[in-house]
Amino acid sequence: MARKKISLIGGGQIGGVLAQLCALRELGDVVMFDIVEGLPQGKMLDIAEVGSVDNFDANLKGTNDYKDIAGSDVVIVTAGLPRKPGMSRDDLIEVNSKIMTSVAEGIKQYAPKATVIVISNPLDAMVTLCQKITGFPYNRVIGQAGVLDSARFITFIAWELGVSVKDVNAMTLGGHGDDMVPLVRYASVNGIPVMELLEQKYKSAEKAKEVMEAMVKRTRGAGGEVVALLKTGSAFYSPASSAIAMAESILKDQKRVLPTCCFLQGEFGVNGYYVGVPAVLGENGVEQILQFKLDAEEQAMMDKSVAAVKSLVDSMK
Ligand SMILES: NC(=O)c1ccc[n+]([C@@H]2O[C@H](COP(=O)([O-])OP(=O)(O)OC[C@H]3O[C@@H](n4cnc5c(N)ncnc54)[C@H](O)[C@@H]3O)[C@@H](O)[C@H]2O)c1
Repeated sequence: MARKKISLIGGGQIGGVLAQLCALRELGDVVMFDIVEGLPQGKMLDIAEVGSVDNFDANLKGTNDYKDIAGSDVVIVTAGLPRKPGMSRDDLIEVNSKIMTSVAEGIKQYAPKATVIVISNPLDAMVTLCQKITGFPYNRVIGQAGVLDSARFITFIAWELGVSVKDVNAMTLGGHGDDMVPLVRYASVNGIPVMELLEQKYKSAEKAKEVMEAMVKRTRGAGGEVVALLKTGSAFYSPASSAIAMAESILKDQKRVLPTCCFLQGEFGVNGYYVGVPAVLGENGVEQILQFKLDAEEQAMMDKSVAAVKSLVDSMK
């Protein structure tokens, strides 16, 4: 069986970790494109030279020429500026729209069969733009936000309850902004509702609610928390790992259910916008969107998050 091909557009902080994870997991051959001369070539050479130590077989190539992404199965886009302390993701829209426009044109021309996973911020707007310019079907242009936002929520719950992160299940929906929707009702430890465990721990429903609210708040601001600490950029290990989970599900047709920024056509009452929802990811990209009923409070949060996405996306028109 021929190896799969993954192309990374953007060879910065996230791009470097993506390349290393692709190699370590032997997902396929990897091309890294960046406009800075020498940067993608240097990073890919650096990773390739420890293949014998890390025990992987993969061809790694750095390039400044879009021609090299031809034949990609999956393209992951991180090209664009990250935010600095005090900035919101939305502040990046002008500069990153210009970058995304040239990136999407390159993908359209040279990798017309690829499934594209966008990471660049502001996420919901950049995915929308990428799909518009490539003209690829909606199921093949998606965004990474929910896997990471959910993983952060899971981490805080696991720390609070003193259990393994592997046994916590939780999901966030909506846009990749401060109005994202962490779903408290479905957060569980192997099926046991987290709220029930918090009530037992604190012997008070009120205190349990307070603790959960604090975790929800921290999840919403988690990207900013890392930015404030790093000062020179934003999170990069965690978004890379999250996008790799999505890419792996597509490349290996795993059909994992991952919170994914998908184009909605009526699902969850949203029509014509990219928003984070649970999706089945397989060889055809988004193969299903799993719908379920939100309660009134969740729906109100979802509506608020979708409104923020709409106003950002509409500002690009
Ligand atoms: N979706 C998420 O969960 C999430 C999380 C964190 C960061 N991000 C976003 O991901 C993006 C990348 O973050 P990073 O930390 O890797 O940034 P970075 O600055 O380290 O890397 C960005 C790279 O893009 C390259 N680039 C700029 N213009 C380009 C172009 N026209 N074509 C190709 N490459 C180009 C730059 O040379 C640089 O190497 C940012 O927009 C950031 O906000 C998203």
